[in-house]
Amino acid sequence: MKNKKFDFGLVGLGVMGRNFILNVAENGFSCIGLSSSIKSIKILRKEGKDFIVDGTQSEKEFLNSLSRPRKVMLLVPAGEPVDSTIKKFLPYLDKDDIIIDGGNSHYDDTERRYRYLKEKNIKFIGAGVSGGSKGARFGPSIMPGGDKDSYEIIKPIFESVSAKVKGEPCVTYLGNTSSGHYVKMIHNGIEYGIMQLISESYHILKNGLNKENIEIHNTFKKWNDGMLNSYLVEITRDVFKLKDEKSDNYLIDLILDKAKQKGTGKWTSQSAMDFGVSIPTIDSSVSMRIISSFKETRVKAQKLYSKKIIPSTSSIKSDDIEKALIFSFVITFAQGLSQLKVVSEEKLYNLNFEKICKIWRGGCIIRAQLLEDFMQAYRKNSSLDNLIFDDNISEIINKTVFSMRKVSIFCIENNIPSHALLSSLSYFDSIKSSILPMNLIQAQRDYFGEHTYERIDKEGLFHTDWEKK
Ligand code: 6PG
Repeated sequence: MKNKKFDFGLVGLGVMGRNFILNVAENGFSCIGLSSSIKSIKILRKEGKDFIVDGTQSEKEFLNSLSRPRKVMLLVPAGEPVDSTIKKFLPYLDKDDIIIDGGNSHYDDTERRYRYLKEKNIKFIGAGVSGGSKGARFGPSIMPGGDKDSYEIIKPIFESVSAKVKGEPCVTYLGNTSSGHYVKMIHNGIEYGIMQLISESYHILKNGLNKENIEIHNTFKKWNDGMLNSYLVEITRDVFKLKDEKSDNYLIDLILDKAKQKGTGKWTSQSAMDFGVSIPTIDSSVSMRIISSFKETRVKAQKLYSKKIIPSTSSIKSDDIEKALIFSFVITFAQGLSQLKVVSEEKLYNLNFEKICKIWRGGCIIRAQLLEDFMQAYRKNSSLDNLIFDDNISEIINKTVFSMRKVSIFCIENNIPSHALLSSLSYFDSIKSSILPMNLIQAQRDYFGEHTYERIDKEGLFHTDWEKK
């Protein structure tokens, strides 16, 4: 390693980190990894034997062996490990060195770190990286934010390693400070929504239409060949094929129905509340992960409340569920992107929505055929408030909403929990209602708290003594 100057350094040689650095090395950039684990370094050397890649346990050696300005990417767990790595590196860094945080960091942390490092003349890029371990190795979608001039320096590396769709890289400069991590958080919120919607559709196929796993596999296969074509529908299709290694059961039937979460979906909902944006499908999917964790409560409650099925007024086919899913996919993206729109304006991110849809078409977990339509919608109108206002999108909504209503009625009548599906329809019905009953909320607030109300017939704020007879 003596006297060798590497183009790129990566901290954290877990599966994601190792795969990312191998991807960079395979694309012709010399790389060095830093890890406290000699085992991880050995694996890196072995898997990277055909490329210029090495590893070290020494922070000093790692930083000394990088060409200037240093380009150092952190793929360590979000939170304290990012801060402690930066703290350890600081004494050895030079002006204009670039630190890239590639983890799922909270945007507030990214803003804080950006400001802190700017004072010390160090550049900081917060970059969301999506696509899991395979994506990291063979082409992720990368969502970088920070200073444009520092992005320009790392651009050749990021464009080489990212996924490509129609020859175009799934990475672009998004905007200042925390914009990259904010966009990645919204990506994950949408990911939560879509995963929940797919899972509810599976529940309807299984418990409502009594389909076997192999039929469910075939249904998802058909769906993936149509408008629902997406990474998440594709992997779902394959889940239903797999049998347990030790028994003859399908693996899916042996998996406990409690979903874990690392928190990015929750952050999306929290931030939506903070910025005053409504994203009920994403909120519901976070809620459902929470409800799922209360397994004992659910078992107890099911014994107490037997399934009283309302005589069915509706029957549905799997085609209706497909349409309901298309409808709710569109609505979930519409919610996430509308949140981005509001936040982009408030935080002066100046996001380009066509570019965001473009880099989500490949490499990331939410990649989907529908993103082509969303991209076109923003190409036609870059300041679109909500996807539902685009002509082509409203045509998709109009063609699917009837089935969405049928599926909703079916779920309600048959006691099938469908929180995210129903929330999608409810959001749509609310956002397209010129009249909502919030006049009554205004009256109630004024009644008990003298909070005043506005009127439709004259300007100003009014208070009434509601108890006056
Ligand atoms: C991605 C994913 C990834 C995320 C996992 C787990 O884009 O590659 O979004 O970043 O961390 O999917 O997320 P949860 O544990 O919150 O489900």
